[in-house]
Amino acid sequence: MDLTTAYLGLTLRSPLVASASPVTSRLDRLRMVEDAGVGAVVLPSLFEEQVRQQELADLELTERHEHAWGEAQSYLPGGPDVDLGGTAPYLRHVERAAAALEIPVIASLNGSTPGGWTGIARSMETAGAAAIELNVYAVPGRTSLTGAEVEARHLDIVGDVVAAVSVPVAVKLSPYFSSTAAVAAAIVEAGASGLVLFNRFVQPDVDVEALTVHPYPTLSTRDEGRLARTWIALLHGRLGVASLAATTGVETAEDVAADLLAGADVVMSASALLRHGPGYAVDLTAGLQAWAERKGFASLDAVRGALAVGVDADGDRVERAGYVAALAQARAVYGDLTVES
Ligand SMILES: Cc1cc2nc3c(=O)[nH]c(=O)nc-3n(C[C@H](O)[C@H](O)[C@H](O)COP(=O)(O)O)c2cc1C
Repeated sequence: MDLTTAYLGLTLRSPLVASASPVTSRLDRLRMVEDAGVGAVVLPSLFEEQVRQQELADLELTERHEHAWGEAQSYLPGGPDVDLGGTAPYLRHVERAAAALEIPVIASLNGSTPGGWTGIARSMETAGAAAIELNVYAVPGRTSLTGAEVEARHLDIVGDVVAAVSVPVAVKLSPYFSSTAAVAAAIVEAGASGLVLFNRFVQPDVDVEALTVHPYPTLSTRDEGRLARTWIALLHGRLGVASLAATTGVETAEDVAADLLAGADVVMSASALLRHGPGYAVDLTAGLQAWAERKGFASLDAVRGALAVGVDADGDRVERAGYVAALAQARAVYGDLTVES
């Protein structure tokens, strides 16, 4: 089966993409995933805090501008003492990766507030990025911040980045909106060429011995893929020409197939490539091919979206019906749900 795939207006040789992670942070590993057959790579993120820290350093070198200094300083997570590294090494990585690889190299920009820092996206494009993946990673922790404000902030950031570049922009999103589908549509309306579903939050955990709370990054599990798959199935065919990328929980070739059946244009992998090594992309691709042959699919187009929620269906009702049916099924496994009278 021909695996050629359109994503963000780019032509990829495969729908399997290496997601932003340490796998894409070094040239040797990038070459390995390319050799293993992925269609594109997303580099690890350059963070808003890094860009602002660089601005701060530049200001120090020239003249001190009190207002700008104050603004830039207020965005640093631990104050100016935390050295996150400047922007130059990142741009060099984009440049080297783009020169070394045949497949498209997507640079990742990660932030949570609108502002001039987003202009760095243009430097990523100049360095050779074929597209920008904009990761809006924001956990609204203030009780005074409304959902409408959070959404407006997303749209402002997307608008800034889209305006800064001529390459396509994909937006990596949180699943936690009161109306994820409406936000997805608004982001596309704001100029995004695609959506990457979803961001996986680094959730802090409590260490009951040390009596501390700390962010605890873990690799994903297969079950986590269901959240993105649910939304991809709902959004497929509803966002015009915008692309959909599935990220999270892709451990086997069956997971890749499931995301494609739901309607993903591309399927991304980070945890599985970290767990099994960059060469594991060969297994995922071969497994996808074998599955498609076994199921009699002649083309990727026939697979893509075959199990999506139909565009004429009422998405709310489909989800509600699925929920009720799932609970009814649960009776058979866990016992009757009807209350005692
Ligand atoms: C160690 C590690 C580092 C990551 N770094 C980034 C990053 O810099 N930017 C980003 O957008 N996502 C980052 N991610 C998230 C992945 O790109 C991916 O979206 C997420 O892990 C879910 O996919 P998976 O289930 O295949 O791991 C990282 C994930 C891991 C495990």
